[in-house]
Amino acid sequence: MNTHWTREARYTALNADSRERYEALCAQAAASPWRQRYHVQPPAGLLNDPNGFCHDGREYHLFYQWFPLGPVHGLKYWQHLSSADLVHYQTRGIGIAPDTKWDSHGAYSGSALADGDGLLIAYTGNHRTAAWERIPYQLTARLDAHGLHKHEPFLKGAPAGYSEHVRDPKIWREADGSYGIVLGAQRDNESGTALYLTSTDAQTWQLRGEIDFALPGFGYMWECPDYFPLAGRDVFLCCPQGLPADGDRYRNIYQSGYFLGTFDKAACRFNHDGFRELDHGFDYYAPQSTLGADGERLLIGWMGLPDTTCPSARDGWAHCLTLPRVLTIEDGQLRQRPLPALDRLRGEGAHDGIHYELNLANPQNHPFILTLRAGASAKTVLTYNGEALIFDRSQSGALPEPEKDAPGKGGHIRRLALTQLHSLRIYADTSSLEIFINDGEAVMTGAIYPPADATGLHVAAADDATVTIYPIL
Ligand code: FRU
Repeated sequence: MNTHWTREARYTALNADSRERYEALCAQAAASPWRQRYHVQPPAGLLNDPNGFCHDGREYHLFYQWFPLGPVHGLKYWQHLSSADLVHYQTRGIGIAPDTKWDSHGAYSGSALADGDGLLIAYTGNHRTAAWERIPYQLTARLDAHGLHKHEPFLKGAPAGYSEHVRDPKIWREADGSYGIVLGAQRDNESGTALYLTSTDAQTWQLRGEIDFALPGFGYMWECPDYFPLAGRDVFLCCPQGLPADGDRYRNIYQSGYFLGTFDKAACRFNHDGFRELDHGFDYYAPQSTLGADGERLLIGWMGLPDTTCPSARDGWAHCLTLPRVLTIEDGQLRQRPLPALDRLRGEGAHDGIHYELNLANPQNHPFILTLRAGASAKTVLTYNGEALIFDRSQSGALPEPEKDAPGKGGHIRRLALTQLHSLRIYADTSSLEIFINDGEAVMTGAIYPPADATGLHVAAADDATVTIYPIL
């Protein structure tokens, strides 16, 4: 389907008039050779940020940003999924539709909490005026057995001193029953930051101010902030846009990372020891956390980036969510392990060269080369040389490409400096690789779009290295 993405086409709603087009797009997507087997992906159209991730005491809820009518950023909905284990999901249909003045041009990102017998949602309504000026509205909504009920926005437009880019509320509940929100924002001087709001009843909110990270000019906008306490420390996640590349760091068009430290809420200050990236691969953005059923801190991200063209757009769909990770703090940094329940995906017998979990044990820290998804004209290569792990997708097949110039960035090789590499766990799906290094010390995620014959897997490693592969059926 060759659509010219006019403004009108991008802001078409999913309704009786567009239903037939949507069905055709779903059929086209279903026939795509790059459909994932065990990742959350859209039936058609474009998926971006995970939203509203929470556990309600019985099951998980997970939503995602979704433009159903094409593989581009357009009129955003929240698509709703639920899951008992975050391994298998049920699609519950549209959670939030952009059907009020406040969210007329998109039900943008936000978060949710279990609240009584329903969910309390906080999100950004994206409204555009006739002159196409953006007005962000921050609103809450309640989702329960009676359906979705949106409340009057608690923050209308941008507070003084900030641009129209104010969005993505992450809501949490304090031990005393009060509520907090962090919001991504851009100052009038085009630098990125985050705002802090509090409420005793989740109806009236007080803007406590901008959180001071003692970092003037760290990017031009911070998207999708998240805050949570973990093991006696405080963690703040955000996606700063506009950081210049710095050696091996910040090589993607936009960044996603965290600060570890102490959130002094009374002073509205976050004391920390610097910003670290959450993922050292190619495609990781807008992650959102929640407390899991067992009180553990879980994180799911968007395996994609804004302003990037995705090869599967050819087939009417784009992007997926990453697998869930369990967060801990070890040796003064975040550790991210794959969710243990993912072991349920493990099958028996031979694998097909495409869908598998691969575990490499490298006890003597020897160099190795793993060639994945190899075919006549394609391969994806992971090389450990004793100094770094190099993830090379430059010959993996069709490639995602940034739509904007990102000086000093891009390319399809990522390098992570590492002098000890004892284990790797790789989750390979039809069009992605998630590589967990040294039991969650670091992660590299990359989308790949190989040709059909690329099912070869070659391991060149020392004799004492062992490889265990589980097929994922
Ligand atoms: C991040 C983001 C958010 C926004 C949403 C719109 O990818 O730009 O800041 O709320 O996507 O889909």
